[in-house]
Parts: sequence; structure tokens; C-alpha cells
Amino acid sequence: MEKTVISVNHQAGAVIEDAAALSARFGQKTARVGVIGLGYVGLPLALLFSRNGLQTTGFDIDPFKTEKLERGETYIKHISAAAITAEVSRKQFRATTDFSGLRQMDAVIICVPTPLDEHREPDLSFVRHTAESIRPHLCSGQLVVLESTTYPGTTEEVVLAILERSGLRCTPRPYTTDGHRVTSSLSGEDDFLLAFSPEREDPANAVFQTHQIPKVMGGVNGASALAVQALYGQVFERTVLVSCSRAAEMTKLLENIYRCVNIALVNELKLLCLRMGIDIWEVIEAAKTKPFGFTAFYPGPGLGGHCIPIDPFYLTWKAREYEFPTRFIELAGEINTAMPGHVVTAATDALNRRKQCLQGARILILGVAYKKDIDDLRESPSLRIIKLLQQGGAIVDYHDPYFPRLHKMRDYDFKLSAVDPTAEALEGYDAVVIATEHSSYDYDFIVRHARLVIDTRNATHAVKEQREKIVRC
Ligand SMILES: NC(=O)c1ccc[n+]([C@@H]2O[C@H](COP(=O)([O-])OP(=O)(O)OC[C@H]3O[C@@H](n4cnc5c(N)ncnc54)[C@H](O)[C@@H]3O)[C@@H](O)[C@H]2O)c1
Repeated sequence: MEKTVISVNHQAGAVIEDAAALSARFGQKTARVGVIGLGYVGLPLALLFSRNGLQTTGFDIDPFKTEKLERGETYIKHISAAAITAEVSRKQFRATTDFSGLRQMDAVIICVPTPLDEHREPDLSFVRHTAESIRPHLCSGQLVVLESTTYPGTTEEVVLAILERSGLRCTPRPYTTDGHRVTSSLSGEDDFLLAFSPEREDPANAVFQTHQIPKVMGGVNGASALAVQALYGQVFERTVLVSCSRAAEMTKLLENIYRCVNIALVNELKLLCLRMGIDIWEVIEAAKTKPFGFTAFYPGPGLGGHCIPIDPFYLTWKAREYEFPTRFIELAGEINTAMPGHVVTAATDALNRRKQCLQGARILILGVAYKKDIDDLRESPSLRIIKLLQQGGAIVDYHDPYFPRLHKMRDYDFKLSAVDPTAEALEGYDAVVIATEHSSYDYDFIVRHARLVIDTRNATHAVKEQREKIVRC
């Protein structure tokens, strides 16, 4: 069925009323929501809308994913098949590769990847392709929301520019907000509405579920702000409205840069503490007791995941347009990217102290996911560590409960299968590197049976016996 197009009256001032009509449809749960990009971000978001009674369609270019979802199956570890089946069977959620269905949507939310290219510059090709695939199906009265992390200005400069080639208009205009509602807004003529709302998903976070994480959003004008807040207000416990899409885009980058810089700081302090014979993890636990003004960050083998190693460089790139050097970001990047090399140096030195060398040494890496207990290895420092060890002549195996095999990736093709860390297997390696501290590992067992343990995560802190085998780095 073709969607009912909300009448857009091009009289000055009327656009807010049209947005109000759309908002009412969200409130009455009669609106249809489309989510484009059914990955770590898009799939949980689509299911959230569906669970809350909004008819939801997921769109993806990957038929493997849409077909699995239609069968009620999952491809993301922390999203259960039961959760998908429940929504599919009550016909509240469906998934498709047919983008013509976008015409029937009242709101279209874009959750596609925003990686860096081979020159470490923003690769907006996924966002561009998605905007191009919406354009022929864009209808008057629709709300389009970009969720992909990106530099300030993308929604207006990239997405809006492509969507307006449809002949429909949405004009950026200032509005004010008290954080909850639009307090004043210039009226004007618009055919569709456009906003940015950053995803703050933290995969496998057991404390905060998607709907409990306050949702930040900003429209390109007041009408868009009103509509996007009405949409997310249906499913999120708290919405936070900012005064433009650029402020919403910058909010996400601030959050990720804050993490990136603070992780770099503790990584650098860890290197110093190692030389000074001070236990950085003990220091962090002590500092954490301060009830204000300190947030704990932890050192590790380097940054991983789709966000923290990548997003800050979206801002660095954009800042060049303003002839502004983003020195904190560059320095943090330099420190964090050097961490896998530091792990390899620590392993080499430890072998050396045992009159062994890296060349020909047999090394087992435990954990290739970029963080504990998740099935995501994008940008994982473990991959870089494997590569560096191999370049140094080591014979490297790995184990990860979430990855029985390492498939070909953009930068790596190891052709390795996981080796179970049995007592016999552990005893056969010259060194075991704990790169990701999955909860399923028995660290007492590992230390008991390994000859040498290089611990990059302080995972062995509770191990009491044979600590002389452990090298923390
Ligand atoms: N994963 C996270 O924890 C996280 C957290 C916050 C923000 N983000 C941001 O959210 C965005 C999406 O990340 P993700 O982790 O969900 O990515 P993902 O790779 O898990 O999923 C992206 C999905 O988009 C699909 N896709 C690619 N191009 C498409 C197109 N043209 N049309 C339709 N579908 C297309 C892919 O097939 C895939 O299913 C990124 O900008 C990322 O930075 C991710």
C-alpha cells in the first residue's frame, strides 16, 4: 500500500503543523519506520521500534542478512533469534533488499558504515549510496534521519544535497531548543524533514540497553527537530534535542574523541609506569575512589572497534577545511596505534630473557575480538599483533570463542583456524599473549599450563600461583 502522504502546505508557518501531524502519527503508532543498514546499530534499533508497536521495515543491500531475518534467524551474537522471530511472526518487522518499499515509510533512518579509506580519510560512499537509493522513493512529508557517525556538516552538505535532487525541498533554518522541545523556529517551505541522531550503541553492554541510553538529536530546521524528537520519544526513555544537526554530529565525535584521548593517556602512563616499576592498574583503581572529577580508562594492546580508532579522524579531516590542526586527536592516534608494536616488543624481550628469540617462536594469541565478550573484530589490535609477530618470524596461532576461523579481511588474510587452549596445546607454545580478556577463559588454568604469558589486559590479576610466568605489558 502506498503511504498516505501528509499534506505539506507551503504557507509560511504551516510546516510546523505538518511536522506536528507526522509527530501525531508517531505517537499513535500508526507511522511506519524504515531502517537502512541492518548491522550492529540498525538491527537493534529496528527491533526496538518494532517491539514498541511501530510497523518497521529493515532495508539492507546484503540478501544474506535480510533472508536470515525473514526466517527469524540472527547473525549478531548478542541479538537473539527469539527476539527477531517474535517481531517477524507478529508481522511487526520485516527485512528486505527492495528499496522501493521506502515510499511507504513515514520515517527512514540511515545506519550504514562510515569507515576510513586507504588514506585514512572519511569514506562516505555508503552514506552517499544510501541517500541515492532513497532519492527516487522520497515522498513529501517523510522524515529522514542519519545515524551513522560522521563529521559535522554531513547531514546538510552530503545527504540533503543528494535528497534535494529529487526536486523536493528541506531548507536549513535556525531554531532554538531548551533541550526538550523546540522553543522558537523560523517557518518556511519544506517538502520533507531531515535530522541527525548519533547512535550510542555499546554492543553487549549489560547495564544499558539501547532504549535506556539518552538519544541526542538535531534537525536541519525546527520542523525536522520536532518530528525527530517525536519519533525517538516513542522508544527512548530520554531524548536530548540540540539546536542543529551539526551540533548532534559533533556531540558523537566529542564522546568518541574523549574516549580516544583518555585511552591514549592511560596507555602512555602505562608505558611510563612499566619503566618505573609501578602497577598502573593499581593506580587506576586507587584514583577511581575519588568521588568526583575522575573517570577511569584502562590501558590495553591498542584501540579497536568500528568507532574509537576511526571517528576522531572524521573531525581531523573536516578541521583542515578550517585550517585548524586537531593536535590532541593526532597525538592520541599516534600513541594508540603504537600499542600493538609495544606488545610485540614486550613479547620479544620476554623471550630474549629466556634465551629465545622471536624468529621461529610459537605464539598463541588469546582473543581476537576488539573487546571482551563480543563477536566483533573490526579494527582489532589483535590482528595487528598477529601480523607484527609474523613479520618478526614467529609462528602464530590464535583462539577466540567467537571466531572459529579468521576469514579474509580488507587488511589481513591469515588463513588461520582457532586452536583450543587445552593444557597440552598451551604447553606447546613458547608464549601465550592475552589480547582480549574474554570471561570464558580460565586464567589460573592458562598460567598453570603456559610457559610464558604476555598479559595486555591485566586479565591475570587474580592469579595467585606461578606469577613469575606472567609479563604484564
Ligand atoms: N557498532 C557500534 O557499536 C556503533 C556504535 C555507535 C555508532 N556506530 C556507527 O553506526 C554506523 C553503522 O555501524 P554498524 O556497526 O551498524 O555497521 P555494520 O557494518 O554492522 O552494519 C552496516 C550495515 O549496512 C549495510 N549497508 C551497507 N551499505 C548499504 C547501503 N548502501 N544500503 C543499505 N544497507 C547498506 C551493510 O550490509 C550492513 O548490514 C557507523 O557509522 C558506525 O560508526 C556504530
